[in-house]
This record gives sequence, C-alpha cells and structure tokens, in this order.
Amino acid sequence: MRRPIVVGNWKMNLNHREATYCVQKLAWILRDANFDYRTCDVVVLPPFTSIRSVQVLAEADNLKIAYGAQAVAATSQGAFTGDVSADMLAALDCSYVIVGHSERRKYHPEDDATLVDETRAILTAGMHPILCVGESYDERKQGIELEYAVGQVNDVTRDLSDDEVSRMLIAYEPVWAIGTGMVANSQTAQDAAHAIREHLASSFSTEVAERVRILYGGSVNSKNASQLMTQAKDMDGFLVGGASLDPDEFSAIVRLTQ
Ligand code: G3P
Repeated sequence: MRRPIVVGNWKMNLNHREATYCVQKLAWILRDANFDYRTCDVVVLPPFTSIRSVQVLAEADNLKIAYGAQAVAATSQGAFTGDVSADMLAALDCSYVIVGHSERRKYHPEDDATLVDETRAILTAGMHPILCVGESYDERKQGIELEYAVGQVNDVTRDLSDDEVSRMLIAYEPVWAIGTGMVANSQTAQDAAHAIREHLASSFSTEVAERVRILYGGSVNSKNASQLMTQAKDMDGFLVGGASLDPDEFSAIVRLTQ
C-alpha cells in the first residue's frame, strides 16, 4: 500500500525568514490537530535560499515535515555558474527534488538527456526525484493528453533501472491547471494516473508500478482535494503550489489525506 504524500512547491516565494515561519506554523497546526505523520508524508520545497533555514528549524524542533528543492543541476560540481548540485542538496538533508516542472521546461529549457542526468544525480545522492509531466491546453484539445504525459514519463525513465524508477515520484500537472484555478476533475486525474501506472507496469514491472507514488498538481486547494483524493484511485497525493504558501490551507489539504 502506497503512503499518501502532500508536497508544497513554494516556487519563487518566501525568503528564509518567511519560510521558517511558514514551516513552523504548519508544524504547530498539525501538532495541535494530533496529525499522525505515519499516515501521510508532508513535504515542503522552499527556494534554494531558504532551504538551510528550514533545515536548522527541522533539526532544532525535530520536525517530521520533510523538505527538498524545486530543481537541481545535472552535474555534480565545477564551472556551472548559478547551479546547485544534488550533493549540495543532500548535504542539507533534502529528501525530494523536482525534475522537469513545466515552469522549468518553459523558462529554463532542458532536453531529455539533461532531465535524465538530473534524475540520476538525485537518486545517486539518496533523494527522491519528483518528475513533473502534463499536457498543455493544445494537447488536450487534440485529445492526446494521455499519450503526451506518458511520453514525458518514458522520455526520462526508459533507460533507468527498476530500482531507480521505484524510488521516483511522478506528478501529473496539466499545464492548463497550474495557477489558473481550473483544477482537473477527478476523472481526468485518474485517467492520467492510470495511464502512467499502466505504462510503468508494461515498461518495468507490476511491482515497480505499484511502488511509484503518483501525485496530482494544478490548482489544488482544501475545497477540491478531498474529491480528487477519494475518486482518483491511482493518485497518491498532491503537488500543491499557491495553496501551500498558507499553512492553514496546506495543513487542511494534508489532513484530508487521512
Ligand atoms: O508544482 C505545483 C504547481 O505547479 C501547482 O501550482 O498554484 O496551481 O497549485 P498551483
């Protein structure tokens, strides 16, 4: 049985002070609600500049909230100005790192080989890649949304081992739902998750397909999360953007997974 997981992608928001307060308040709210972290993994992905502050708080308060990064370099070190390596993130006790978010694909285009290298670097450093896939409105209008999302999964995973893929998470984030308030309905989310899981079973094994956690992202909030979670049987959780910046809203989404 896959454990649910709710991941907050803060994008380019919250400096190190704001990030520390946001995680602290989230932890307080979940503590006061007697939240059982054994029932759901809770993760926040701050901007690079805020990760160290979150780590210090997590150590000091023995927080059960995991954290990670929104992107990573494909290489380990050297003359790559502005980049951050997987080893550097692991040294800050990061657990999860996003690969191929649609906003990265748009503003920092990376070819499939680079996404594969990033994925391998994350795995080698002992962390979990969260591979983001999802169609734009054009692909949906053409009726090729499922092939498109599965193709993006295949582009990155086809040369990976069963063990490597088993340690990944996949986030289905239709681009037309990100930041728009137009959340996908449960059937859309379920269709995508099922197609991805079927692809993993045929390309790798049923064991791998059963282990990989598949998330939905795109305008998730405390009002729509419950229906998505209960009706999209192949979904294991959420990758939340805007709503994760509000600890009250984010904690409400987390608690809906129980
Ligand atoms: O990575 C999650 C993000 O892209 C979704 O953003 O604001 O639509 O929840 P949002």
